[in-house]
Amino acid sequence: MQPVLAFDVYGTLIDTQGVTVELERRLSDATKAGEFAKRWREKQLEYSFRHGLMGAYVPFSECTREALVFTDRALQTGLSDNNQDHLMAVYAELPAFPDVVPALDQLRDAGIRCVAFSNGTQEAVTKLLTRAGVESHIDAVISVDDVKRFKPDPAVYAYLRTRLEVRPEHTWLISSNPFDVIGATHAGLRSAWVRRHPDAPFDPWGGEPDMTVADLETFADRIIK
Ligand code: LAC
Repeated sequence: MQPVLAFDVYGTLIDTQGVTVELERRLSDATKAGEFAKRWREKQLEYSFRHGLMGAYVPFSECTREALVFTDRALQTGLSDNNQDHLMAVYAELPAFPDVVPALDQLRDAGIRCVAFSNGTQEAVTKLLTRAGVESHIDAVISVDDVKRFKPDPAVYAYLRTRLEVRPEHTWLISSNPFDVIGATHAGLRSAWVRRHPDAPFDPWGGEPDMTVADLETFADRIIK
């Protein structure tokens, strides 16, 4: 039986550090752009966890905007409303990593079903992947928005399984985000960690992903053979 592959979007298919160039242009202190991008991303995820725990779901783009405003306050970078709107627009049009399309094509040529699985809404992720040239290389976009929970709530991985209709041992979650990999493993799925930075640490929670790879082309080679 062929595996079915669910790819995380932000940080796995789409390069969220792509905002850094825009931040350099828009921040009152351009030297803070790298730190800003990192803290914005971390805060966005923290807000998704907190909204989820509180039972106060909002679309993921709200977490992104709230995190943008918070990071601007924390780093005192003086973003105007106009610049905040612009950065949100840039975030909605981030590029794909260069290994994404070749890997997806290789997988689909081998007859393997590939979907995107994201905290982002169906509409936001479909637009993002279309602009990045990835949408036509996947079979479907599946969003946690359908169950109004965020990763790593077990409900979202259960929903993924329902949508894919494949046994858990054949369902893979592929993500650069360790919390997503651990969440999927906890929910009984197979998992691959895309370690996009060679010094990125994995959470010391006692478990390991089924596979660790540096990029998606390596993943495709290994899952096909
Ligand atoms: C996503 C975030 C977690 O796309 O990266 O679901």
